[in-house]
Amino acid sequence: MYIKGVGMTKFDYSDKPWWRFAYEAAMEALEDARGMKISNIDAIVLSAVSSAAGGEHQTHKISLLSDLFKTNVPVIELPSVCAGGGVATWVANRLGFRNVLAVSGERLVDSPSEITTDWIMSAAERVIEQTEGMLFPVQNVLVWQQYMAKYGATMDDLALIAHKNHHNAALNPKAYYYKRPVSLEDIKKSPIVASPFRLMDCSLSVNGGAAAILSAEKSDVEIIGSSMATDYLLTFGRELITHFKATRIAAKQVFNQAKIKPQDIDVAEVHDAFTSVELFSYEDLGFAPIGKGADLIREGKVNLDGFLPINPSGGLKAKGHPISVTGLAQIYEITNQLRGRCQDRQVKPQGKNPKIGLCHNIGGAGGSVTIHILKKV
Ligand code: COA
Repeated sequence: MYIKGVGMTKFDYSDKPWWRFAYEAAMEALEDARGMKISNIDAIVLSAVSSAAGGEHQTHKISLLSDLFKTNVPVIELPSVCAGGGVATWVANRLGFRNVLAVSGERLVDSPSEITTDWIMSAAERVIEQTEGMLFPVQNVLVWQQYMAKYGATMDDLALIAHKNHHNAALNPKAYYYKRPVSLEDIKKSPIVASPFRLMDCSLSVNGGAAAILSAEKSDVEIIGSSMATDYLLTFGRELITHFKATRIAAKQVFNQAKIKPQDIDVAEVHDAFTSVELFSYEDLGFAPIGKGADLIREGKVNLDGFLPINPSGGLKAKGHPISVTGLAQIYEITNQLRGRCQDRQVKPQGKNPKIGLCHNIGGAGGSVTIHILKKV
């Protein structure tokens, strides 16, 4: 399958219903697909979870989309928490229809922070881990403490990752932190959330929408790999504590499918739910040997002007993380990078236009993972 068109709203705290974000992103994707119309779409795959938090309580979302888009084609709903956009893409790629719209919209931030946080936490283990205080930052910091003890990386390495992602977001008009760079000093002085994680190690909850049109008809961006893997909900029931096994399984599959090696990737969007997750995912994805991920950020190799730019969009850290939308926002960014349309944040690894890009999307604390590899043809 090919990517025909992509669309994305600005990520911010706009007070619109989730479906409005989805609609705006879908309309932009249709326009981007050389003015395709909704009547050309044979099926829709939707991923959205936030309406339960926002008091809309609309569970028949597929019929709402029929109404919104004035279509009677099949609409498939796939809520898969933070991996929702990636799972929607994975399914759309396999459905067997000619033209499929994968779309997501979330109004995540419309309540006090503790309500939003509680809603996000429904993506993790509620009975055993959360009653012991293991919220997402805590769960992830415990993994990071094991990693630091074993491999000797430091909080300074994570600060460099946050700084890189904020630098990139400041150049991305659709990112929450557009035109607002954050200094390394401010990152290192930001409030502690779950020691030693600071505010600037955490992803930023925002509202937004993103969409992609997948088509069997040839276009300029081809999906050459699409994989998905899962792992146990109880993070500390897993055999691997310092990394995410689901990423490793999905990475092995996707590189086999695409018949390429991690070294062939020119640009990647990596799921930085926490700065630590970006760092050890360099290793899970095969970009660095195990225990050596920090070298990539220390040596600037993953910066916008490095040989493997990672999160040119600003990532979940500074573009923002509207849960299900993130996976499709990654497809939006990599498609536009391959098309050379990203202006101030356009990457040119080794002076050349990028040819192959990767999108890595995680649900929960490593409980599900999708990876897509796109190629400019
Ligand atoms: N990075 C930068 N700024 C952030 C931020 C972050 N991660 N989180 C919040 N902010 C900013 C907000 O924009 C807001 O700024 P404003 O006052 O200028 O509007 C301010 O900090 C307060 O926001 P609020 O949401 O009230 O912060 P909080 O202290 O209640 O929560 C976190 C902060 C980091 C604890 C919360 O955002 C969080 O839990 N993030 C992780 C979300 C998560 O786990 N997602 C799923 C991952 S799989």
